Amino acid sequence: MDTDRLTTDRVQSTFVEYFEERGHQRITGSTLLPPSDDSVLFTTSGMHPLTPFLEGRPHPLGNRLVNVQRCLRTTDLDEVGDPTHLTVFEMLGSWSLGDYEGPQSLRWGYELLTEGFGVDPRHMHATVFGGDDRTGPDTASSDVWEELGVPVEPTTEDNWWDNGPTGPCGPDSEIFLWTGDIPPRSTPTQDDRWVEVWNHVTMRYRRLDDGSLVPLPQRNVDTGMGLERLVSLVQGKQSVFECDVFAPWRQLVPGLWQLDVPSLRLVCDHLRSAVVVIGDGVRPANTGRGYVLRRLVRRLLTVLWRDDPTRYLGDLPGELILHTLDHFRQDTDPVVVRGILLEEEQRFRRLLERGRRILSRPRFQGPLGEEDLFYLHDTHGLPRELVLSLRPE
Ligand code: SER
Repeated sequence: MDTDRLTTDRVQSTFVEYFEERGHQRITGSTLLPPSDDSVLFTTSGMHPLTPFLEGRPHPLGNRLVNVQRCLRTTDLDEVGDPTHLTVFEMLGSWSLGDYEGPQSLRWGYELLTEGFGVDPRHMHATVFGGDDRTGPDTASSDVWEELGVPVEPTTEDNWWDNGPTGPCGPDSEIFLWTGDIPPRSTPTQDDRWVEVWNHVTMRYRRLDDGSLVPLPQRNVDTGMGLERLVSLVQGKQSVFECDVFAPWRQLVPGLWQLDVPSLRLVCDHLRSAVVVIGDGVRPANTGRGYVLRRLVRRLLTVLWRDDPTRYLGDLPGELILHTLDHFRQDTDPVVVRGILLEEEQRFRRLLERGRRILSRPRFQGPLGEEDLFYLHDTHGLPRELVLSLRPE
């Protein structure tokens, strides 16, 4: 298979068509903003907008669905810069709402990866839920993997999926692909050259406030696969940043700012994520979603200014903003997005200058205690993180 032809668009359409041919209806992905009654700030997974339907409400398009959903995960922020994590990414998803069960989903997953995307079955490993004191081991999934000849490893915590402390959850089976250059001899929990690519969750419980599990009215299957990660793996690339959606970033950013590889990845990821978040209507603020956006911009500026404090977001080529908005089909004016980024940059620059000035006062020359940090935040609006970054000792 000519893997270079497996572009992001091609992988996406192959995925969707595969499931459409098997009776799934395509639903339109939502924005990054969950409904207002939702407890999380951003959509973190393709299943998120489907929660009421996983809990039993009939979906108008039926009980087999497929989509591509943009997601944002702040839990992975510290990992960004490595080969596999992005803050904003797209998730390919398929669902059975009380229709077929997990084993069918795993069989289709195997077929699509091997026949649709040319994955060598010898480079696949699965994990399954090994059971705990409340729920038995997922033998149905292990049996499928054994029958297909895919090695399988049971785990407990790693193979239980939930979307927070309460809500739908259940055991999952994850598919890993091998990225090493010698044949694999280990299992996913022992060797991080096994990269997780596709999660198949048998979503059949709801966790209540008191932590107890009750069965959902129906047994669902919820699968999710990171698009950029899949593309980079099937193309044999070293990282998600080498897949085609990042091509303009790879071409333009290194000429603008010289950065080591992890910093370059972080700057591109955070800038691109900030554009998408702004494109979905979020504005910088000190709380909630706006604070996540603010943190993204401040983190990337901190990295940019480490070597050269004169670096300026105004130098960012407009086509990177436009390319990102187009890719996510957002119609926000690129000039508006740019203006918001520049305003936020200026605010941060001023805050840093003020912070340095205040911290140079005699009172703050010694080690800073909790009381100082509280005072600096409360009276001068200097967040703890910022103070510590200016006084790393
Ligand atoms: N909800 C699961 C995940 O996010 C599968 O979609 O991994």
